Amino acid sequence: EVTGPCIIVIFGAAGDLTKRKLIPALHNLAQNKLLPDAFAILGIGRTSTQTNAFRSQIHQDLQEFAADALESELWEWLEPRLHYLAGNFQAPETYQQLAAQLQQLDQAFGTQGNVLFYFATAPTFFTEITQQLGAAGLVQETSDQWRRIIFEKPFGQDLASAQRLNQEIGQVLTESQIYRIDHYLGKETVQNILVFRFGNGLFEPVWNHRYIDHIQITVAEQVGVESRGGYYEGSGALRDMIQNHLFQLLALTAMEPPVSFEADAVRDEKSKVLKAIEPLTAEEVLTCAVRGQYGEGQIKDQSVSAYRLESRVSPESNTETFAALKLTIDNWRWAGVPFYLRTGKRLPERVSEIAIQFKHVPSLLFRETSIDQLTDNFLVLRLQPNEGISLQFGAKVPGPKVRMGSVNMDFCYANFFDATPTTGYETLLYDCMIGDATLFQRSDNVELGWQVITPILDVWSALPSRDFPNYGAGSWGPQAATDLLTRDGRQWHSSSPQFCSA
Ligand code: BG6
Repeated sequence: EVTGPCIIVIFGAAGDLTKRKLIPALHNLAQNKLLPDAFAILGIGRTSTQTNAFRSQIHQDLQEFAADALESELWEWLEPRLHYLAGNFQAPETYQQLAAQLQQLDQAFGTQGNVLFYFATAPTFFTEITQQLGAAGLVQETSDQWRRIIFEKPFGQDLASAQRLNQEIGQVLTESQIYRIDHYLGKETVQNILVFRFGNGLFEPVWNHRYIDHIQITVAEQVGVESRGGYYEGSGALRDMIQNHLFQLLALTAMEPPVSFEADAVRDEKSKVLKAIEPLTAEEVLTCAVRGQYGEGQIKDQSVSAYRLESRVSPESNTETFAALKLTIDNWRWAGVPFYLRTGKRLPERVSEIAIQFKHVPSLLFRETSIDQLTDNFLVLRLQPNEGISLQFGAKVPGPKVRMGSVNMDFCYANFFDATPTTGYETLLYDCMIGDATLFQRSDNVELGWQVITPILDVWSALPSRDFPNYGAGSWGPQAATDLLTRDGRQWHSSSPQFCSA
């Protein structure tokens, strides 16, 4: 179904996010006939480009970053809808010019006064732009025109800054106008966690501490810090990935069934489960939180350099490029079930998955198998790449003796569904245009994430690491991450690199 009429205003239109994700996502929406004719895009940036140059830049970017070849018919539709305004985000004149442009575009395309503002800028501008929009009267809604704002991550640096930001933007906007993005929620396989759990009768009855031994959430990346050293130095893996993406995965895996699929019902349950995560004490941080930084090593047979030698990174940097946590959720469903989370850059593979290990049988019938040879019952939700779900269980190995071997039952998305790659931003932009905030974070969701992370950040900044770099590029992170599980008699799940590969 086509969205209603609107203009999308992108602050930070010359940036990386715009060309790699936002424009390709809007292109995919247009290709799938989900955008209305009453539609326009207005990019705002500090570079003094003209609309014509902006259009040719986007044309070029689409050829580079869109999944499919750019169709000429689609470009003919899109080109006249692309506009650019050069301006300083701190200058009130920019917003006066913006108001005038919005009026012109509204008249030209019949967008009925609806505007989506997308803040794809550095977070330092979030408050300023919000206040300026407010002062220029650009975020006022009426009964027949909406104004919504998407905030890119990072939303805050810690609990105090996130609270401050929520409070500052809350002076200008109502919560229903605010869309805090986490692009993991735009991924089909991430949304499928809820469908898998709550759309099937089979799994939910065993989804609790009585049957589940522990849960692992891994988001491993092969890439290093790339050109983002300037941002990443002040962030690190805990802020960059765990507070948002991994906590969203944890919340979807662990939350209670919501009373409905309404945005607030879903977000209430997420908040409840995030609130139930037991904060780590300073002592626990030393044993349950692991940090790492990559040194030089090999990725796909190529030598790559250490984090400290990357551009715009300090040669003495103490920023972590790997983090692993052991957390517990203090509620009835999850009592005593550890959640192990890990994420890192320059790991051997790109893989995101949630691995759920079920408990072993209470006693063993087969004499030829000892209890420590029992197959682990793992249910693995593979989020990317080679999306799918795999169930590992034990089966009888053919032969006269009763011996058990480990086998897998695999579901691959690509065998059932059209797996055209998307950016993940399609769903999120579309949802914002139709006013559905289910896949966006409410203020309390974000703050609760920071509440868990901040005590860890505090200990880490008070005690700078002395052993960085402590893992080689192309390895699975520091030894302490392995020890985090072996200490508990467990191991990180390793899925086969061939899983669901074509
Ligand atoms: C971003 C982080 O939010 O997510 C990046 O800032 C990270 O550091 C990226 O590389 C990972 O996203 P995806 O979709 O490639 O898994």
